[in-house]
Amino acid sequence: MSDLANQILSVDADQESGDEAALTKADKVLQAGGLVGVPTETVYGLAGDATNPQAVAKIFELKGRPSFNPLILHCSDLDQAQTLGVFNSNALTLATHFWPGPLTLVVPKKPGSVIAKTATAGLNSVALRITAHPVMRQLAHRLGGPIAAPSANKSGSLSPTSAEAVSEQFGDGLDLILDGGPCRVGVESTVIACLTDQVQILRPGGLSHEQIAAVVGLEEMRSSAQEDAVIRSPGATLNHYAPRTPVRINATDVKPGEAALLFGDQSLDGLHSAISVCNLSLKSDLNEAAANLFQMLRQLDKVGAKSIAVATIPNNHLGAAINDRLHRASVAKMQ
Ligand code: TXA
Ligand code: MG
Repeated sequence: MSDLANQILSVDADQESGDEAALTKADKVLQAGGLVGVPTETVYGLAGDATNPQAVAKIFELKGRPSFNPLILHCSDLDQAQTLGVFNSNALTLATHFWPGPLTLVVPKKPGSVIAKTATAGLNSVALRITAHPVMRQLAHRLGGPIAAPSANKSGSLSPTSAEAVSEQFGDGLDLILDGGPCRVGVESTVIACLTDQVQILRPGGLSHEQIAAVVGLEEMRSSAQEDAVIRSPGATLNHYAPRTPVRINATDVKPGEAALLFGDQSLDGLHSAISVCNLSLKSDLNEAAANLFQMLRQLDKVGAKSIAVATIPNNHLGAAINDRLHRASVAKMQ
């Protein structure tokens, strides 16, 4: 497959049926057990055939991902998803409301599933997703089965929101990268477990708590404060989303040698001395802030700052996912 190595082909997020040449090439790579960088509306994925153990092994190896951390399986549509997992009524409600979209559902694995055991880390549940970006759906349709695709970054580093960022992470380690431009949402999907009568958010993401509660009702949502209720997401305990430069959250000032990441019109003491400044959203729009988060952290990671001082971000709507990622980035360097 070396003739395809390092190749980047453009695809259009708005086209449901176009991009024939790029899709055909990507399908060929996937069929042959190779890996493709694929855009989604959240972040880029590192895609391989979920039914092919060699392809799945390559994903874990390339990412440096611990084998106990299972992968998300991307499907073409709800019919395909239902061949892999068992959907209870909450799962069906969520799927019908929010797919295609930034939602991953963890449901019991259907017996006799074709998925490589390693893709689900041997668990008896599966994480399923149908993306809003048509390219991933079309690839799963052509392949006739699920595509395993974690975020296309080395384990522990920032998720890529552009094809260039994927290329920076993996160089020619990938057979092909599909370039769909910058990701519209910019933070990963919300992972929700529907393994009992209640739903539990395992990872905040591009679909907000408020949006979910409006559909399933707060009484249906399991609080993580309920000790016995906590279903663990194997990836949740890992250091994630960290730039190389240390991150200081809820900063009220900028210290000498620091870069600054702002939100809205709030300022920080000593801002004039910052060696570089980015603003997630001048107009205090949390959707815009989420879309900018990883790209701006990546940018500030390159300026040689001692650390990145990040202003306080509101914790509602997509702010919850933004703060989750920033918190993980801030503790990563202390451990
Ligand atoms: O937006 C996204 O979700 C992106 C795009 C590419 O789809 N993907 C992504 O994948 O962020 P990844 O592998 O970086 O994160 C998947 C998360 C991990 O925290 C993993 O532990 C969790 O989903 N997960 C996967 N299968 C699970 C399962 N059966 N039970 C609980 N958590 C699971
Ligand atoms: Mg990831």
